[in-house]
Amino acid sequence: MRRKLAAGNWKMNGTGDDLAMLKDLAGAHSDPGCEILICPPAPLIHRAATTLQGSAITIGGQDCHPRTTGAHTGDTSAAMLVDAGARYVITGHSERRADHGEQDADVRTKTTTALEAGLQVIVCLGESLAQREAGNTLDVIGAQLSASVPDGVTGKTVVIAYEPIWAIGTGKVPTLAQIGEVHDFIRARLKDRFGAQNGQSFRLLYGGSVKPGNAAEIFAVPNVDGALVGGASLGVADFSPIIAALLGAS
Ligand code: PGA
Repeated sequence: MRRKLAAGNWKMNGTGDDLAMLKDLAGAHSDPGCEILICPPAPLIHRAATTLQGSAITIGGQDCHPRTTGAHTGDTSAAMLVDAGARYVITGHSERRADHGEQDADVRTKTTTALEAGLQVIVCLGESLAQREAGNTLDVIGAQLSASVPDGVTGKTVVIAYEPIWAIGTGKVPTLAQIGEVHDFIRARLKDRFGAQNGQSFRLLYGGSVKPGNAAEIFAVPNVDGALVGGASLGVADFSPIIAALLGAS
Protein backbone atom coordinates (compact mmCIF):
# COMPACT_ATOMS: atom_id res chain seq x y z
CA MET A 1 0.00 0.00 0.00
CA ARG A 2 1.55 3.32 -1.05
CA ARG A 3 0.99 6.23 1.34
CA LYS A 4 -0.58 9.12 -0.55
CA LEU A 5 1.38 12.36 -0.64
CA ALA A 6 0.12 15.92 -1.06
CA ALA A 7 3.21 18.06 -1.63
CA GLY A 8 3.22 21.85 -1.89
CA ASN A 9 6.01 23.65 -3.70
CA TRP A 10 6.00 27.32 -2.75
CA LYS A 11 8.75 28.16 -5.28
CA MET A 12 10.08 31.73 -4.70
CA ASN A 13 6.99 32.81 -2.78
CA GLY A 14 6.52 33.52 0.89
CA THR A 15 8.11 35.36 3.81
CA GLY A 16 7.69 35.00 7.56
CA ASP A 17 4.17 36.45 7.35
CA ASP A 18 3.05 33.42 5.35
CA LEU A 19 3.92 30.94 8.10
CA ALA A 20 0.51 31.59 9.65
CA MET A 21 -0.95 29.64 6.74
CA LEU A 22 0.95 26.57 7.92
CA LYS A 23 -0.64 26.75 11.36
CA ASP A 24 -4.07 26.94 9.76
CA LEU A 25 -3.27 24.03 7.46
CA ALA A 26 -2.00 21.93 10.36
CA GLY A 27 -5.14 22.76 12.33
CA ALA A 28 -7.35 21.68 9.43
CA HIS A 29 -5.50 18.36 8.98
CA SER A 30 -4.42 17.13 12.40
CA ASP A 31 -4.87 13.45 11.51
CA PRO A 32 -4.79 13.53 7.74
CA GLY A 33 -4.49 9.87 6.73
CA CYS A 34 -2.04 10.89 4.03
CA GLU A 35 1.32 12.60 4.04
CA ILE A 36 1.34 16.38 3.70
CA LEU A 37 4.55 18.14 2.70
CA ILE A 38 5.31 21.82 2.21
CA CYS A 39 8.51 22.93 0.47
CA PRO A 40 8.98 26.63 1.29
CA PRO A 41 11.90 28.76 0.11
CA ALA A 42 15.17 27.88 1.89
CA PRO A 43 15.21 30.86 4.30
CA LEU A 44 11.82 29.79 5.68
CA ILE A 45 12.59 26.11 6.21
CA HIS A 46 13.75 26.35 9.79
CA ARG A 47 10.92 28.62 10.92
CA ALA A 48 8.39 26.50 9.03
CA ALA A 49 9.67 23.31 10.65
CA THR A 50 9.56 24.95 14.08
CA THR A 51 6.04 26.24 13.45
CA LEU A 52 4.91 22.75 12.47
CA GLN A 53 6.59 20.80 15.26
CA GLY A 54 4.18 18.19 16.59
CA SER A 55 1.89 18.55 13.57
CA ALA A 56 1.22 16.06 10.79
CA ILE A 57 2.88 18.28 8.16
CA THR A 58 6.44 17.71 6.98
CA ILE A 59 8.82 20.31 5.54
CA GLY A 60 11.09 19.93 2.53
CA GLY A 61 13.55 21.91 0.42
CA GLN A 62 13.13 22.82 -3.25
CA ASP A 63 16.70 22.04 -4.30
CA CYS A 64 20.12 21.13 -2.91
CA HIS A 65 23.68 21.28 -4.20
CA PRO A 66 25.22 18.08 -5.60
CA ARG A 67 28.25 18.43 -3.30
CA THR A 68 28.26 18.20 0.46
CA THR A 69 30.29 21.36 1.32
CA GLY A 70 32.62 23.87 -0.27
CA ALA A 71 33.01 27.06 -2.24
CA HIS A 72 29.55 27.31 -3.80
CA THR A 73 28.28 30.78 -3.02
CA GLY A 74 24.56 31.02 -2.56
CA ASP A 75 23.91 27.29 -2.56
CA THR A 76 22.41 25.04 0.09
CA SER A 77 23.64 21.53 0.89
CA ALA A 78 21.42 18.59 1.68
CA ALA A 79 22.86 18.41 5.21
CA MET A 80 21.91 22.06 5.75
CA LEU A 81 18.34 21.25 4.76
CA VAL A 82 18.28 18.39 7.25
CA ASP A 83 19.76 20.62 9.93
CA ALA A 84 17.08 23.24 9.26
CA GLY A 85 14.33 20.67 9.74
CA ALA A 86 13.63 19.42 6.21
CA ARG A 87 12.81 15.76 5.63
CA TYR A 88 12.44 15.91 1.85
CA VAL A 89 13.96 17.73 -1.09
CA ILE A 90 12.74 18.24 -4.65
CA THR A 91 15.32 17.58 -7.38
CA GLY A 92 15.11 18.18 -11.12
CA HIS A 93 12.16 20.58 -11.12
CA SER A 94 11.77 21.91 -14.65
CA GLU A 95 12.28 25.47 -13.38
CA ARG A 96 15.70 24.43 -12.01
CA ARG A 97 16.45 22.63 -15.28
CA ALA A 98 15.45 25.76 -17.27
CA ASP A 99 16.75 28.55 -14.99
CA HIS A 100 20.00 26.86 -13.96
CA GLY A 101 20.75 24.57 -16.87
CA GLU A 102 20.47 21.46 -14.71
CA GLN A 103 20.92 18.26 -16.67
CA ASP A 104 19.79 14.74 -15.79
CA ALA A 105 23.29 13.92 -14.53
CA ASP A 106 23.13 16.86 -12.09
CA VAL A 107 19.72 15.73 -10.89
CA ARG A 108 21.04 12.23 -10.33
CA THR A 109 24.04 13.48 -8.32
CA LYS A 110 21.85 15.79 -6.24
CA THR A 111 19.48 12.92 -5.57
CA THR A 112 22.32 10.67 -4.42
CA THR A 113 23.75 13.40 -2.19
CA ALA A 114 20.35 14.11 -0.68
CA LEU A 115 19.67 10.44 0.02
CA GLU A 116 23.08 10.12 1.69
CA ALA A 117 22.16 13.08 3.91
CA GLY A 118 19.02 11.23 4.99
CA LEU A 119 16.45 13.15 2.97
CA GLN A 120 13.64 11.64 0.96
CA VAL A 121 13.74 12.92 -2.61
CA ILE A 122 11.04 13.91 -5.07
CA VAL A 123 12.61 13.62 -8.53
CA CYS A 124 10.74 15.64 -11.20
CA LEU A 125 10.35 14.63 -14.84
CA GLY A 126 8.36 16.26 -17.61
CA GLU A 127 8.16 16.96 -21.32
CA SER A 128 7.89 20.33 -23.08
CA LEU A 129 4.93 21.15 -25.31
CA ALA A 130 7.11 20.74 -28.41
CA GLN A 131 8.18 17.29 -27.24
CA ARG A 132 4.57 16.26 -26.61
CA GLU A 133 3.38 17.60 -29.95
CA ALA A 134 6.17 15.72 -31.70
CA GLY A 135 4.92 12.50 -30.08
CA ASN A 136 8.06 12.10 -27.99
CA THR A 137 6.60 12.24 -24.48
CA LEU A 138 7.32 8.67 -23.40
CA ASP A 139 10.81 8.73 -24.91
CA VAL A 140 11.61 11.94 -23.05
CA ILE A 141 10.18 10.68 -19.75
CA GLY A 142 11.95 7.32 -20.12
CA ALA A 143 15.29 9.00 -20.78
CA GLN A 144 14.88 11.42 -17.86
CA LEU A 145 13.87 8.60 -15.54
CA SER A 146 16.90 6.48 -16.48
CA ALA A 147 19.37 9.33 -16.21
CA SER A 148 17.98 11.34 -13.28
CA VAL A 149 17.23 8.52 -10.83
CA PRO A 150 20.30 6.82 -9.31
CA ASP A 151 20.74 3.05 -9.22
CA GLY A 152 19.85 1.12 -6.10
CA VAL A 153 17.11 3.41 -4.80
CA THR A 154 13.82 2.29 -3.27
CA GLY A 155 10.28 3.54 -3.03
CA LYS A 156 10.89 4.16 0.68
CA THR A 157 13.01 7.23 -0.03
CA VAL A 158 12.40 8.25 -3.65
CA VAL A 159 9.20 9.70 -5.09
CA ILE A 160 8.75 10.46 -8.80
CA ALA A 161 6.80 13.53 -9.90
CA TYR A 162 5.49 13.74 -13.45
CA GLU A 163 5.15 17.42 -14.31
CA PRO A 164 4.53 18.29 -17.97
CA ILE A 165 6.33 21.63 -18.37
CA TRP A 166 3.47 23.08 -20.41
CA ALA A 167 1.02 22.40 -17.57
CA ILE A 168 3.00 24.16 -14.83
CA GLY A 169 1.44 27.45 -13.79
CA THR A 170 -0.56 27.65 -17.01
CA GLY A 171 -3.97 26.29 -16.01
CA LYS A 172 -3.57 23.69 -18.79
CA VAL A 173 -3.81 20.08 -17.68
CA PRO A 174 -3.24 16.90 -19.72
CA THR A 175 -6.25 14.68 -20.25
CA LEU A 176 -6.73 11.97 -17.66
CA ALA A 177 -5.77 9.44 -20.33
CA GLN A 178 -2.51 11.30 -20.97
CA ILE A 179 -1.71 11.40 -17.24
CA GLY A 180 -2.56 7.71 -16.92
CA GLU A 181 -0.42 6.76 -19.88
CA VAL A 182 2.67 8.46 -18.47
CA HIS A 183 2.14 7.20 -14.91
CA ASP A 184 1.63 3.61 -16.13
CA PHE A 185 4.76 3.96 -18.25
CA ILE A 186 6.81 5.24 -15.27
CA ARG A 187 5.48 2.40 -13.10
CA ALA A 188 6.44 -0.20 -15.72
CA ARG A 189 9.93 1.27 -16.11
CA LEU A 190 10.47 1.33 -12.34
CA LYS A 191 9.44 -2.34 -12.09
CA ASP A 192 11.77 -3.29 -14.95
CA ARG A 193 14.68 -1.47 -13.39
CA PHE A 194 14.18 -2.01 -9.67
CA GLY A 195 12.20 -5.24 -9.56
CA ALA A 196 8.45 -5.80 -9.36
CA GLN A 197 8.03 -5.31 -5.62
CA ASN A 198 10.28 -2.30 -5.21
CA GLY A 199 9.05 -0.75 -8.45
CA GLN A 200 5.50 -1.05 -7.21
CA SER A 201 6.37 0.81 -3.99
CA PHE A 202 7.44 4.16 -5.49
CA ARG A 203 4.89 6.92 -5.11
CA LEU A 204 4.13 8.74 -8.37
CA LEU A 205 2.90 12.33 -8.11
CA TYR A 206 1.25 14.35 -10.83
CA GLY A 207 2.12 18.07 -10.95
CA GLY A 208 0.99 20.96 -13.15
CA SER A 209 -2.04 23.19 -12.48
CA VAL A 210 -3.58 20.89 -9.86
CA LYS A 211 -6.50 22.83 -8.34
CA PRO A 212 -9.44 22.00 -6.06
CA GLY A 213 -11.64 21.67 -9.17
CA ASN A 214 -9.56 19.01 -10.94
CA ALA A 215 -7.82 17.20 -8.06
CA ALA A 216 -10.40 14.45 -7.49
CA GLU A 217 -10.47 13.28 -11.10
CA ILE A 218 -6.66 13.33 -11.33
CA PHE A 219 -6.34 11.32 -8.08
CA ALA A 220 -8.75 8.72 -9.47
CA VAL A 221 -6.26 7.87 -12.25
CA PRO A 222 -4.45 4.59 -11.49
CA ASN A 223 -0.82 5.02 -10.44
CA VAL A 224 -1.40 8.62 -9.30
CA ASP A 225 -0.42 8.58 -5.63
CA GLY A 226 -0.66 12.29 -4.97
CA ALA A 227 0.31 15.67 -6.35
CA LEU A 228 3.08 18.21 -6.42
CA VAL A 229 1.20 21.49 -6.19
CA GLY A 230 2.62 24.94 -6.90
CA GLY A 231 0.25 27.92 -6.92
CA ALA A 232 -2.59 26.13 -5.15
CA SER A 233 -0.37 25.22 -2.18
CA LEU A 234 0.08 28.85 -1.14
CA GLY A 235 -3.27 29.15 0.62
CA VAL A 236 -5.32 26.87 2.84
CA ALA A 237 -8.48 27.59 0.83
CA ASP A 238 -6.99 25.85 -2.22
CA PHE A 239 -4.60 23.32 -0.71
CA SER A 240 -6.98 21.91 1.88
CA PRO A 241 -9.61 20.71 -0.64
CA ILE A 242 -6.82 19.12 -2.68
CA ILE A 243 -5.76 17.16 0.42
CA ALA A 244 -9.39 16.22 1.01
CA ALA A 245 -9.68 14.99 -2.59
CA LEU A 246 -6.59 12.85 -2.10
CA LEU A 247 -8.12 11.26 0.99
CA GLY A 248 -11.33 10.64 -0.88
CA ALA A 249 -9.34 8.78 -3.53
CA SER A 250 -7.64 6.41 -1.07
P1 PGA B 1 1.57 24.67 -10.44
O1 PGA B 1 3.09 24.19 -10.23
O2 PGA B 1 0.72 23.81 -9.53
O3 PGA B 1 1.56 26.11 -10.04
O4 PGA B 1 1.24 24.44 -11.88
C1 PGA B 1 3.41 22.84 -10.05
C2 PGA B 1 4.89 22.68 -9.86
O5 PGA B 1 5.67 23.32 -10.57
O6 PGA B 1 5.34 21.89 -8.98
